[in-house]
Amino acid sequence: MSRHVYHLDLTEEQVRGARYVLLPGDPGRVPMIAERLAGQAGGKMSHGALAHRREYCTHLTDVRGVPVLVTSTGIGGPSAAIAIDELAQLGVTTFIRVGTTGAIQDYIQVGDVVIATGAVRLDGASVQYAPIEYPAVAHHEVILALIQAARQIAPSLGYRFHVGVTASTDTFYPAQERKDSFSGYVPRRFQGMTEEWRRLGVLNYEMEAATLLTLCGSFGLRGGCVTGVLANRASGDQVTAEALRLGQANVVAVAVKAVELLIKTDREA
Ligand code: URA
Repeated sequence: MSRHVYHLDLTEEQVRGARYVLLPGDPGRVPMIAERLAGQAGGKMSHGALAHRREYCTHLTDVRGVPVLVTSTGIGGPSAAIAIDELAQLGVTTFIRVGTTGAIQDYIQVGDVVIATGAVRLDGASVQYAPIEYPAVAHHEVILALIQAARQIAPSLGYRFHVGVTASTDTFYPAQERKDSFSGYVPRRFQGMTEEWRRLGVLNYEMEAATLLTLCGSFGLRGGCVTGVLANRASGDQVTAEALRLGQANVVAVAVKAVELLIKTDREA
């Protein structure tokens, strides 16, 4: 009998041996990413979702005969860990998070793309898979594919891309040094943290890379993360509709191209 995974509500048979997955946080972005993947890479898209339970929505795309999944992780480490764990059970070996982010370096602009080489593990989920001393690093082949994709696409779309360390938090508000929206307080341990990360060369804040990279690294699988910049914390914190549109469009273009490049390289290996 075909293996079934509980939270994603998927069977091995449904995923048709897919080895690659793109992982947005938002289930609402899954159909758009699957369409882009099918369109840009000359493939075919399955009609509708394979499954959609809670925050986990999955579509299957065929990229020149190679099945590629798009699965939403929801927000944060705990839900991302479930998605990655269950996709690994189904045989997926290459995981690319395609998300959004807040930059903390002043030279990074809204609409730019950030490729993570690794993540500061400020999450809680990854510590339950591997001790905190274990590094959350992206797989070199995924980093290379993302850089190659960004180099090819950035000039025509007019954005810049940056490669470096991201900080993954478990909260959008306090751990990213935002006043929580009710009491307006930032706990003392987070006050001044953004400046500290900035001085240590960290590029941006997001909420899933550390979990993804720790799980993939410790499972012996390939993980990577690319994010589109929605806001720059050095110059302001407003996320406009235009920033959202731009950040998402650019990051999806890079992620889709990177999958295409990885498939080609893997075929030739
Ligand atoms: N996602 C985050 O985690 N932080 C931001 O500032 C924007 C997107």
